Amino acid sequence: MHVSRPRAAALLGAALSAFLGLAADGVAQRQHVNGLIGEPPDVSNWPHPAAPDGNPYPRSTATAAELKQRELQENLGKLLFWEEQVSSDNTVSCGTCHIPSAGGSDLRDGGVHSSGNIGAFGMIRQHQNGMTGRIDFNFAVAPSTDIDRQVTGLHVPTMIGAYVFEELFWDRRAGIEFHDNGGTPITNFLDWAACEDLSVGPVVSDVEMGHEGIDWGTGFIQDKLNESYPMALVDPSTIPADVQWMVATGYTYDILFDKVFWSHPQFGGAQGVTRERFAMAVAHYMRMLIPDQAPIDLGTMTDSQVFGMEIMDQSGCFSCHSATGGPTLTTPFGILADEFDNPFSDGQIHDIGFGPVKTPTLRNVGLRTRFFSNGLVPTISDLIDFYEHQPQGGRTQLNGSGPGGTLTPGERAAVIDFLTVALTDPRVAAETFPFDRPELCSERSDFFPFETNEYGTATAGPSGFLAEIIANSPPLVTKPLPFGGGMPMDWFKIGVGHGPPGEPAFLLIDGAPGAGPTLWVGPTFITIPQANLDAQGIATAHVPVPLTTASIGVPFYAQWMIIDRYRRSFSNAAKFTPFQF
Ligand code: HEC
Ligand code: HEC
Repeated sequence: MHVSRPRAAALLGAALSAFLGLAADGVAQRQHVNGLIGEPPDVSNWPHPAAPDGNPYPRSTATAAELKQRELQENLGKLLFWEEQVSSDNTVSCGTCHIPSAGGSDLRDGGVHSSGNIGAFGMIRQHQNGMTGRIDFNFAVAPSTDIDRQVTGLHVPTMIGAYVFEELFWDRRAGIEFHDNGGTPITNFLDWAACEDLSVGPVVSDVEMGHEGIDWGTGFIQDKLNESYPMALVDPSTIPADVQWMVATGYTYDILFDKVFWSHPQFGGAQGVTRERFAMAVAHYMRMLIPDQAPIDLGTMTDSQVFGMEIMDQSGCFSCHSATGGPTLTTPFGILADEFDNPFSDGQIHDIGFGPVKTPTLRNVGLRTRFFSNGLVPTISDLIDFYEHQPQGGRTQLNGSGPGGTLTPGERAAVIDFLTVALTDPRVAAETFPFDRPELCSERSDFFPFETNEYGTATAGPSGFLAEIIANSPPLVTKPLPFGGGMPMDWFKIGVGHGPPGEPAFLLIDGAPGAGPTLWVGPTFITIPQANLDAQGIATAHVPVPLTTASIGVPFYAQWMIIDRYRRSFSNAAKFTPFQF
C-alpha cells in the first residue's frame, strides 16, 4: 500500500509519541565514556552539526531530550549508511566501500582506476533514459554505456573518526559549511558541518552510487527511498541490535524520516526523505563512530609499542600525524594531548610524494589493506620502507639507529607494533557496537553482485565477440511499492555486454546448471527474447518469469545466447537465488 504524503502526515501525529516511547524503551542509553566534565554546554542545541568543537557525544551536558533526539538521528543514519537501496541500482551503500574491519576502507580490493590508482568499485555506468526523461533505475532500457563497475580515482579513506575533521575528503573539499542543493550555506550549518556536507555527495556521484543524471534536485532519490523499507535487502538476522527496533516498526523511510525529524526547528513536519535530513542522519551516525578504546587510549601499550611511538615521535611523524601539530603524546600513555580523541592527523594538506592530500588518521591503520590515497602500498612493511627511504633529514624520514639512520629490525618491529596494534580499537576490528553493521546484500552467501556468481566461459561466434553476462543487481522477488508511482514491479534485471553490435540476443533461464561449455544452463529453458544488441554490444532484460514467490530460495541459472551472423554463441553463465523480505 502506498501511503501518500498527506495521509502519512495524518498517521504521524497519533504515532509520534508511541514512537518516541519505543525509542526510549528499545534502546539502551549510550554510555558517553569520554565525557568531558567542565566543558561549556552545547548552547547551539541539536540542529547544530557540532563536532568536535561542540561534538554532542563527548559532552555530558546535553539534556536527556537532546540525547534522545540525537539517538534517533544516529539510528536512522546507521540504517542509511548501510542501505544499498540508497544507490540507483540497489547494489552500493556507503558501507560497501567503508567496512570497519578493513579500517573503514574497502574490502573488495582490486578496482584499478585509469590513473593507475587502486580505487573502490562503484556503479555500472547507466545513462539517463532519454525516451521518458526519467532516470532508468531498472536497467530496463539501453543505453548502458558499460558493463563493468566504475572505480573511484582515489583509495578509500576511513569514515571512522571523520567527525574530528573540519573538512573532509583527500582534498578537503567537504565542509566547513553545509550548503543546500543550490549552493547556499544553510543556517545553523555554518561550522563543523563537513560530515553533513560530505554525506550528500556519494549518493549523486555517478561513479559511486548514482546513475547518470541523478541529482537531489530531481527528487528521484527521495522518491525511491520514500517508498523503500529499511534494510529490505539484507539478512534480517544481521541487522545491528540498536537499530532493529526501527526496522521492526514496519515503516518505509518516508514515515521514519518524518518521525525522526518531526519536531526539528528547521527541517520538521511532513517532508519524508529530504537531502538535508539524509545528511543530518548520516552525519550523526558518523559522529557516533569514536575509536577511543585502543591500547593507546586505555594505557595498555606494551614496551615495544611505546618504543615504536617514541621512534615516530623523534622522527617527526607527529608533526603531521597529530591534531595539535607537534610531538604531543606525552606520558602517561593513554592521556592524549588532544582532548577530542587525537586522530593522529592534523587535518591539513601535505605532499609526501603522491600529490597534496589531507593527512589521514593513523587510528586503525593496521586494519587497512592498502595505504595512501593511491592505494598502491599494500602492506605496513612496504609503507615503513617508503618512510625509511625518504630524503635523509627530511621531515618525513623514519629515523633509526641502523646503518645510515635506517631502522634496526627491532626498531622496525616496534614501529609496526605501535601502528598496527596500539592504535587499533578492538571494537572496530571485531565490528562490535558502535562499529557493528549488517551483512550487505552484496555479501550474502546466496547472492554475490560482484561477479563471483558467474561461471563458465563464453563461446565466441563468427565475429569473435566474447559476450559477458551482467549479473549484479539483487534478485529480489518483488518490490512492494512501485517507486515514482508507475515503474514496473519486476525490477530484477540481467544484462549482457561485449556482444556483437546489432545482433539478436536471448536470455536463457533454467532451474539447473548444464554441463557446458556450449549451453551452461542446460537444454530446457525459458527464453526471453531481446532486441538487437546496441552499438556497444549491450542488452538488458527484465526477469519477471522465474521471480514468483515459489522461486524464493530456489537457485536458478541464466545465460545469454547471441545469434551472431546466424550462428549461436553464448555468454558465460550466472547463478542466482531469488529472495524476498
Ligand atoms: C564507491 C565507494 C564509496 C562509496 C559508495 C562511498 N564512499 Fe566515502 N569515500 C570513498 C572514496 C574513494 C573517498 C575519497 C574521495 C576523495 O577524497 O575524493 C571517500 C571519502 C569519504 C569520507 C572522507 C574521510 C576523510 O577523512 O576525509 C567520508 C567521511 C566518507 N567517504 C563517507 C561516506 C558516506 C557517508 C557515504 C554514503 C553517503 C560514502 N562515503 C559512500 C568511497 C566511497
Ligand atoms: C609532512 C606531513 C607528514 C609527515 C611528517 C608524516 N606523514 Fe604520514 N602521511 C602524510 C600524508 C599527507 C599521508 C597521505 C599520503 C597519501 O595518501 O597520498 C600520510 C600517510 C601515512 C600513512 C598511511 C595512512 C593510510 O591510511 O593510508 C601512514 C601509516 C603514515 N603516514 C605514517 C607516517 C609515519 C610513520 C611518519 C613518520 C616517519 C609519517 N607518517 C610522517 C603526512 C605526513
